[in-house]
Amino acid sequence: MSVQRVAVLLNEPIGTISPYLHGEFAEHLGECIYPGIWVGEDSPIPNIGGIRKDVVDALRPLQIPVLRWPGGCFADAYHWRDGIGTREKRPLRLNYHWGMAPEPNHFGTHEFIAFCRLIGAEPYIVGNVGSGTPAELRDWVEYCNFGGDSALANERRANGAKEPFRVRFWGVGNENWGCGGNMHPEYYAELFCRYRTFLFNYSDTPVHAIACGAAGNDWDWTWKFLNSLRRKGWSRRHLVQSLAAHYYCGTAGTATEYTTEQWTELLCKAKAIEGILIGHRTVMDELDPEQKISLIIDEWGAWHPVEPGKPGSGLYQQNTVRDALVAALTLDIFHRHCRQIFMGNIAQLINVLQSLLLVQEDKCIKTPTYYVWQLYAPHKGAQAVRFETLADTLSDGGAVRDFCRQQYLQKEPFSLQRIEGSASVNENTLCVTLCHTHPEQPAELEVQVLGATVSQAEAVFLTADDIHAHNTFEHPERVKPSEPQTVRVEDNRLYLTVPAASVIRIMGKLSS
Ligand code: AHR
Repeated sequence: MSVQRVAVLLNEPIGTISPYLHGEFAEHLGECIYPGIWVGEDSPIPNIGGIRKDVVDALRPLQIPVLRWPGGCFADAYHWRDGIGTREKRPLRLNYHWGMAPEPNHFGTHEFIAFCRLIGAEPYIVGNVGSGTPAELRDWVEYCNFGGDSALANERRANGAKEPFRVRFWGVGNENWGCGGNMHPEYYAELFCRYRTFLFNYSDTPVHAIACGAAGNDWDWTWKFLNSLRRKGWSRRHLVQSLAAHYYCGTAGTATEYTTEQWTELLCKAKAIEGILIGHRTVMDELDPEQKISLIIDEWGAWHPVEPGKPGSGLYQQNTVRDALVAALTLDIFHRHCRQIFMGNIAQLINVLQSLLLVQEDKCIKTPTYYVWQLYAPHKGAQAVRFETLADTLSDGGAVRDFCRQQYLQKEPFSLQRIEGSASVNENTLCVTLCHTHPEQPAELEVQVLGATVSQAEAVFLTADDIHAHNTFEHPERVKPSEPQTVRVEDNRLYLTVPAASVIRIMGKLSS
């Protein structure tokens, strides 16, 4: 069995892990909102004011920090007034981007806020730039956030919400280089400034404006957008609080059928998000060296071919132990780079792309990705410390690896032999999360802890005996975390055997 060595350097703090790095995204797309979240008050499915109770019960313990809504591409075709007032009177629209599906507008602003409150998430609303107007977006902010006397605030009260919603995060369009209007970065920069000028702050809720960032490794978009702002007079920089890129690692094979080569290919592409993050931050730093504008990646994850029998526009896919590793690799990268990235939102919450939950009629199951969110939760708000892999880096992944390296500025090649991970400290608790990506071989792992004494530690594993394993409505617990196991601690080194294809979390007690 191979021996893998990693080191955790407690004397080398990186920064605080923004809880928003564990964010989520829910779009009016396929079965995410209907019936993933909303079934209506009259549904036989148990609900809280129309919102599925099983979904709330599953999500609340995760304490998801932020939820992005209503899209995605949907956002730039959405008119918020369609989704307020008496539900029966709301207009039936078409979901233009997603198969012209009927959109009843029963889940609108009030329902979204109610859902966020039920699961404990902060709302992040994406405004319509592609087919909307600055006044429409200005009014939405006032409707949500103004606590005083105005027609819009009073309309919100008449619709049942006495207190303002206090929405801080506002996206100014989505993918405006594509489905949000097919714009050039300079043109979008003009529009961004125009829209942003009218996003006013109300009472205690200053707007945190999120500009549309690049797709994948389109460094040009990042540069040209920020440079346009600079050309206007860099004082305009105060208008943009964050720039949000998107990166989907895509697929290799299908969601549930893949060879070991395809297993490696997908993980290699997932690891490429590290280069994306570093690349955009490097471009941003040239124009904004004080890092006043933060980087967000508000759509990421695996994108597999749609599940057979489901509509192509619904983006419904299964989720295996391979997807759990995609999620874990990504969160570990975010933690290690927590000084460079402020928020991350996996796509999407329920029934769409790399979801946390799958629901069908009155059933709700947790995916392997859900369990990564659960296991990685102690990192939120903790101090990230340096994590190093000491093992020799053997090359795997061949052509894909080289492609990823060149395209995405990866510093290190992806290797199945290399355990990836991150580490953080919260008071006297150490949390180390690791990805052992080899699909067949377990490994002996040694974690060397430097800078404090570890008195005891326990580990939890998320894995399965088959790399294609996933949860179904018939077998909902095929993939779930193991019971905690005591870890052998000797000379401040932790020793454990890690199964092939596994996500591992170690929690340790520290004394200095
Ligand atoms: O998440 C699905 C879609 O992917 C979103 O609507 C869009 O922003 C992206 O292209």
